[in-house]
Amino acid sequence: MDKAEIGLIGLGTMGSNLALNIAEKGHSIAVFNRTVSRVDEFRAGAGQLAERIVPCRDLDELAQAIRPPRPVIIMVAAGTPVDEQIAALRRKLQPNDIVIDAGNANFHDTVRRFKELEGSGLTFIGMGVSGGEEGARHGPSIMVGGTEESWKRVEPVLAAIAARFRGEPCAAWLGPDGAGHFVKTIHNGIEYADMQMIAEIYGILRDGLGMEAKEIAPVFAHWNEGRLNSYLIEITAKVLAADDPKTGRPMVDMILDRAGQKGTGKWSAIEAQQLGVPATTIEAAVAARVLSSFKGERLEAEKMYHDLPTERIGGGREALLADLEFALLAGKIAAYAQGFAIMAGASREFGWNLPMPTIAKIWRAGCIIRSAMLDTMAEALASGGAEENLLMAPAFVALMKESHSSLRRIVARAALAGLPVPALASALGYFDAYRQGRGTSNLIQAQRDFFGAHGFERIDDKGAFHGQWE
Ligand SMILES: NC(=O)c1ccc[n+]([C@@H]2O[C@H](COP(=O)([O-])OP(=O)(O)OC[C@H]3O[C@@H](n4cnc5c(N)ncnc54)[C@H](OP(=O)(O)O)[C@@H]3O)[C@@H](O)[C@H]2O)c1
Repeated sequence: MDKAEIGLIGLGTMGSNLALNIAEKGHSIAVFNRTVSRVDEFRAGAGQLAERIVPCRDLDELAQAIRPPRPVIIMVAAGTPVDEQIAALRRKLQPNDIVIDAGNANFHDTVRRFKELEGSGLTFIGMGVSGGEEGARHGPSIMVGGTEESWKRVEPVLAAIAARFRGEPCAAWLGPDGAGHFVKTIHNGIEYADMQMIAEIYGILRDGLGMEAKEIAPVFAHWNEGRLNSYLIEITAKVLAADDPKTGRPMVDMILDRAGQKGTGKWSAIEAQQLGVPATTIEAAVAARVLSSFKGERLEAEKMYHDLPTERIGGGREALLADLEFALLAGKIAAYAQGFAIMAGASREFGWNLPMPTIAKIWRAGCIIRSAMLDTMAEALASGGAEENLLMAPAFVALMKESHSSLRRIVARAALAGLPVPALASALGYFDAYRQGRGTSNLIQAQRDFFGAHGFERIDDKGAFHGQWE
């Protein structure tokens, strides 16, 4: 076989599927995995694609197997393993070769790795990949950070393996060094918010309306036909319809209510705070996952507060279902507005010049948060008016005007019934605070001046002032 066009290290869930995708698109690929037995196992399971896969037992073999200049994708667990692989590759590769970290790196690590590789002759790319197992296999959304020149070198392969939306590949160069991994992080932050709000709506249907999983599934399936059309709503319907083979009961009812996380949601909230960008819905979603992990404590608290209400929500079911659909729509818009605002903040702070319409475009297919609404967002971001906040784009102003009252009613009714809706409630709070021309921080400024002589601005004069408080 001729030398491979590209290499890949890490044949876990993502790496193995990405490698098959690359091979399927006609590119020969050399692969290596820490647990070496996995390499042969992988090739043996690759069927007809095996002829384009070069199994390598160490990094020397990998370097030998790829045609220079060598692009090598690292798809291993994020953190130290990536540093170890880069250090090992530095010894095996040659100037002009390209190292691509395709895992979920913290963008600060990516920026550091760029600095560390400066002067080494190697080119580095930090690449966010979304779409899970299925996306990696058949077309993920790909967010690239690095030099434009390095992007041009890998663009043909990445565009070929990426998902497509109306024929356009969902892969793009988004900016220098950490830009790609930053955008992937915020993608995941939005994903956390989206999933949490869906879970809250499910909670209202289950506990507020007393519906069984099997009854809730078609509700989500129906919503997926409308404005909420998205991958997450689609899989929610499927998840709720699935049975547990062991008990025959709905699978979702047999799953412990304790959610895991690997860090990208938390990083989104941390970066939002660092950049001074409010992202309350994303933060609420991260906090909700953390609270979900306090299972024992929650069971104790339930006993302690057993006499407080957790009630059914009465009234017409049809009207309530319509409100739930629109509440989710409004909440989702607020969460995306926050996500795009964080990216705008980072773009200013780091001088990245992130292409917002392109980001929305490459999220329209392949990634976990793909939805019909992202197409509208791409248009809104391209046509101007949403530079500061998506909530100011005419299309979203119209959608919020149409849907905010449903969000209000749902948050209010859930609160009265004692049903937790932290992400939806924070989305509403964010929206109401954002659209309030005269807020209440005049009082906070007065308090700060009272106890700390921090000073304040006046509405009728320029300069810094102090009050005579006592
Ligand atoms: N799963 C997803 O949906 C998804 C989506 C987007 C991005 N990601 C990101 O993609 C990356 C890979 O995720 P995954 O889901 O494919 O993980 P995975 O299935 O757990 O596979 C991890 C891979 O990393 C290798 N590895 C772990 N520690 C290593 C070390 N110290 N040195 C060398 N290799 C090491 C493993 O090799 P062994 O076989 O030897 O253990 C394996 O090939 C992560 O950064 C993840 O956050 C995952």
